[in-house]
Amino acid sequence: MALLRVAGLTVRYGALTALADMSWQVEAGEILGIIGPNGAGKSSCFAAVTHAVRRDGAVWLADENVTSLPTHVVARRGLRRTFQQNAFFGELTLLENAMAAMLREHSTSLLRSIALPWQERAARRRAEGAAAELLTSFGIGPDDHGKRPGDIAYGTQRLLSVVLAYGAGARALLIDEPAAGTGGTDMQRLADLLVELRRRGVAVVVIEHHMDLIMAIADRIVVIDQGRKLAEGTPAEVQRNAAVLEAYLGRAA
Ligand SMILES: Nc1ncnc2c1ncn2[C@@H]1O[C@H](COP(=O)(O)OP(=O)(O)OP(=O)(O)O)[C@@H](O)[C@H]1O
Ligand SMILES: [Mg+2]
Repeated sequence: MALLRVAGLTVRYGALTALADMSWQVEAGEILGIIGPNGAGKSSCFAAVTHAVRRDGAVWLADENVTSLPTHVVARRGLRRTFQQNAFFGELTLLENAMAAMLREHSTSLLRSIALPWQERAARRRAEGAAAELLTSFGIGPDDHGKRPGDIAYGTQRLLSVVLAYGAGARALLIDEPAAGTGGTDMQRLADLLVELRRRGVAVVVIEHHMDLIMAIADRIVVIDQGRKLAEGTPAEVQRNAAVLEAYLGRAA
């Protein structure tokens, strides 16, 4: 069964239909790529899935219909999203950001145990250790853990956004243009991160304009054009699809 399935998602901004009747699904341990021209409706699709906008259609997380649940409840169920822009606590260190992200979806009992005075120090050390492990395992080394997000390289900031969305573990992650503004080795680190998420069994959905990146790591690709699904298939299938070549890849080349 698909871990995340969306059906008939439609988003309207006033008179503009940004997304029309969009359906796709992604398995646990699979990377689904979403590509399409600027303004095609890709980010609107993520907003629709996470219920961040008014929309028609339906969303299932595993066997649960989560269509009418609010964004924060869906997030607690393990379906989360990153944005095209970086988003973190600018005044906290990377380690503290990671701790906050890991505790975010946790039960109140864990928060309470950390708050109990006689357990505080040990619990904080445990949380710090887990946060350091999280950052390091996704390619952000200890040298950066004590820095604030504004003081690390831009490419590492892009990694951090994804790691914080993953937090203590996610079932499905929607990642919007992780490689925006990066290149070279940063793109390779991002590719490694996305592949690591897949290895951990996350259902990964990635919007990306960097064709070399998405074609290299995606298991399947959905092409969106003017709010509608133009094509769907493996990277190889999509790359030789006539409609895609004409509407998008040909234009981009
Ligand atoms: N909040 C909004 N209010 C009104 N129109 C919007 C809003 N957000 C997006 N749009 C419009 O909806 C359409 C789809 O936008 P969307 O951001 O989903 O595209 P996209 O595929 O993510 O583009 P890009 O590749 O540039 O990020 C565009 O025409 C955009 O101008
Ligand atoms: Mg977008």
